[in-house]
Amino acid sequence: MDASREHWSGRLGFTLAAVGSAVGLGNMWRFSYMAAENGGAAFVFLYVVMTLVVGLPVMLAELTLGRGAGKSPIQALAHFGGERWKWLGGLFVATGFVILAYYSVIAGWTFRYSLESMVSGFPSDAGAHFEAIASGWPALCWHLGFMAVTTLVVSGGIRSGIERASLVLMPLLAIIVVGLAIYATTLEGASAGYAYYFETDFSAIWNTAVLRDAAGQAFFSLSLGMGAILTYASYLDRSTDLPAESITIALSDFGVAFLAGLVVFPLIFALGLEADVGASTMGALFITLPKAFAEMGGAGTFIGVSFFLALWVGGLTSAISLLEVVVSSVIDATGTTRRRAALVCGSAIALLGVPAAFSLEVLGLMDQIGGNLFLIVGGLALSVFVGWIMPDALGEAGSNSKLAGLLIGWKLLLRFVVPAILATVLWFTLRDTWNLINETFAG
Ligand code: PHE
Repeated sequence: MDASREHWSGRLGFTLAAVGSAVGLGNMWRFSYMAAENGGAAFVFLYVVMTLVVGLPVMLAELTLGRGAGKSPIQALAHFGGERWKWLGGLFVATGFVILAYYSVIAGWTFRYSLESMVSGFPSDAGAHFEAIASGWPALCWHLGFMAVTTLVVSGGIRSGIERASLVLMPLLAIIVVGLAIYATTLEGASAGYAYYFETDFSAIWNTAVLRDAAGQAFFSLSLGMGAILTYASYLDRSTDLPAESITIALSDFGVAFLAGLVVFPLIFALGLEADVGASTMGALFITLPKAFAEMGGAGTFIGVSFFLALWVGGLTSAISLLEVVVSSVIDATGTTRRRAALVCGSAIALLGVPAAFSLEVLGLMDQIGGNLFLIVGGLALSVFVGWIMPDALGEAGSNSKLAGLLIGWKLLLRFVVPAILATVLWFTLRDTWNLINETFAG
């Protein structure tokens, strides 16, 4: 292993950073928006299945490849697969570009929400407020600010800043979400929300759009399919138990998403906001929660400000991992300094985010392409690579692991089941993405 390469300070540092990457806007904003768009419980059910059957194996594949090579994605693929596989690393970098570009716009909303409401409380006409701030010059400014912070952290290296921030802020986020979930149980009318969340209409499971979004969401939420986990694992040493690590990361991520649903859906139904959500599913979280906070009075302001701040921090630790994929690849490819690479890549991504800051439709399209399509392609190719091409993947994954005995099952999943499922999902995703592109540019 390259001794000059940075390393995590220890196991906890890595776990927190990886959980920090996984837990972000995806768990709250994207999860509730996707669930609302896809009729609730059927989506949630498929999302759980996808997380377990496809997400976990791919998570372990990324960890194995990253630690095995000890390199950024493009080099890691070339290391085990030769020049022919470099394209996949290139796709990862491109995905990082697209996702971070619009992700930052949404993170900008969360930060604006927390600051604004600290000063003047939450607006009761949250729907109109969201419409007013989601796109346009102010959205652009908040987006640029968020990109600046992300770039600053990445340019300083990953170790002390990220690790320390995650240590304090991830537990804080968890406490706030648990608190809100408990509060939600006390609301009159919450049970309609729980029903929406849990009562699966099994016929909807055969709806290909629901399947497509559930698979995409599992990848997005776990930070899979674009080399983020791979890159973080490249800073690991061999003593880490990778299978155990993959379970920890996936469970934490799922836990937060699940809890977020326990907050959002009871609130939506208790406050009779189903119609609002229908009007702008993308804004679901930014419309329903502020209404609830406004109704709760002074305490609501306090909780709401903490919630959006914690969400912003969750978004920041995820954004850092997205930028790190791009930056580490550029450093390895060109030999330039980390600072310069961060500055150049951060600026380019900020620029790419400008259209998303001006149009919710473009933002949605970028999410469909970067956050669904590219991740599915990346996950599919990655499972084939680690399942069939990488030499002794089983040995690398199982070294120093208490769970090594179970890995034969992992290898079988990775070779046959995961590619079959993802190829099916990819077919629908391609078709629907094509339709969405046409709709966006026709209107
Ligand atoms: N997992 C992050 C979230 O849920 C987003 C992300 C996707 C981060 C892909 C890195 C890679 O918010």
